[in-house]
Amino acid sequence: MTTTLITGGTVVSATGTSLADVLVDGETIRAVLAPGSELLGVDLARSVDRVIDATGKYVIPGGIDAHTHMELPFGGTAASDTFETGTRAAAWGGTTTIIDFAVQTYGQRVEDGLAAWHEKAAGNCAIDYGFHQIVGDVNEASLQALRGLADEGVSSYKLFMAYPGVFYSDDAQILKAMQVAADTGLMTMMHAENGPAIDVLVQQLLAAGRTGPVFHGTARAWQMEEEATHRAIMLANLTGAPLYVVHVSAKQAVAQLAAARDAGQNVFGETCPQYLYLSLEDHLGARSDEWGEFEGAKWVCSTPLRSKHEHHQDELWSALRTNDLQMVSTDHCPFCMKDQKELGRGDFSKIPNGIGGVEHRMDLLYQGVVDGHISLERWVEITATTPARMFGLYGRKGVIQPGADADIVVYDPAGHTSIGVEQTHHMNMDHSAWEGFEIDGHVDTVMSRGRIVVDDRQYLGRAGDGSFVKRGLSQYLL
Ligand code: URP
Ligand code: ZN
Ligand code: ZN
Repeated sequence: MTTTLITGGTVVSATGTSLADVLVDGETIRAVLAPGSELLGVDLARSVDRVIDATGKYVIPGGIDAHTHMELPFGGTAASDTFETGTRAAAWGGTTTIIDFAVQTYGQRVEDGLAAWHEKAAGNCAIDYGFHQIVGDVNEASLQALRGLADEGVSSYKLFMAYPGVFYSDDAQILKAMQVAADTGLMTMMHAENGPAIDVLVQQLLAAGRTGPVFHGTARAWQMEEEATHRAIMLANLTGAPLYVVHVSAKQAVAQLAAARDAGQNVFGETCPQYLYLSLEDHLGARSDEWGEFEGAKWVCSTPLRSKHEHHQDELWSALRTNDLQMVSTDHCPFCMKDQKELGRGDFSKIPNGIGGVEHRMDLLYQGVVDGHISLERWVEITATTPARMFGLYGRKGVIQPGADADIVVYDPAGHTSIGVEQTHHMNMDHSAWEGFEIDGHVDTVMSRGRIVVDDRQYLGRAGDGSFVKRGLSQYLL
């Protein structure tokens, strides 16, 4: 078993910072010590197998991205990152655990959907991974399957109020699933957009000849998100189920969550880097020589990017500070322009929905620290500690403390990261939604359960080193 001492760094947790050395023994953290400490009279730096000098750097728990879609079948194609390429990219960016969505499609058994996801991931991941369960067909059998899900280490499931004919659940189905969740302690994750109403707007826009990517954003107006968020909150209120709303982008949806929380309801919200930094006008409606107005397809995702004139971004940052939103995940769902996004040329509704970003979340949120949006501690909290607590991983993940998995990132605030296909990009995509972004910091060293997977701009990880992590129930259950 290899022993490692990370010396001289500033250990950052959700509650504070301290100068400390971190002793790693095999796969776990053995001790967090005052700098230069001896252990039982032994000079640690001389006795360990490996010393990592973190002087001037931050030592943080590895990121947990609780919303990824490796290999997700969508829109007649599939997300372009496999578990191998996607987890490798995650590691490059300082994320050491992903929670991906296993899919039950219409007509399929939940158990078979989950088994298929285990098969895709097993032996291929560079970092640890867990699953949520998408329930795309709520019926008596799937409700029964939900009752056994927590025993499989899958303590959360996702329903869609959007995408009629694909993953959509109506209110009756949502109510029934939430009743099971209230009984079992499963966390209900909700894609909150009014799918049937959106589909009417989509057809009207297409009939009017409005076929370009920007109209994806027009059809999925903020009212569609606010209304669905409110409805999900009310159904959760009625049933007593805890609720976690995914990829919140509209400030009006944030207000719904905040009001419910103020009233004492157990509801939570996640946003994603794209909603904090990108806008409908600058991205969905973008033009370039290569793709013309279709360039905007790169940023077609749901919920959509919002208009900068409506000031959603300021409200999202503010909600992250005040804990009206609790965490940031990527909703990593990459599609190439060639052969994938291109499927929607001439009809925006056929553009596969999704943005790739698993590699850049830690950096993009660190830039939020530099820009004064959030504190250093909040950076760690919303990217690692809360995801661990929310989804039943805390203690093992999301914190640097004795006994925890040695998932550790050494982050250099004096470093620099240029994001783009040529510079830093390891995701399996032919473009970057983040092309040209400059980050005032750098992921130096990434350790996953004691193994160094990234160091000094070299990848040292291996497919298959990552394991499935069984998750417990959320720590936020009442
Ligand atoms: O655009 C998105 N978000 N694609 C992935 C599927 C989902 O709704 O999360
Ligand atoms: Zn979704
Ligand atoms: Zn998603």
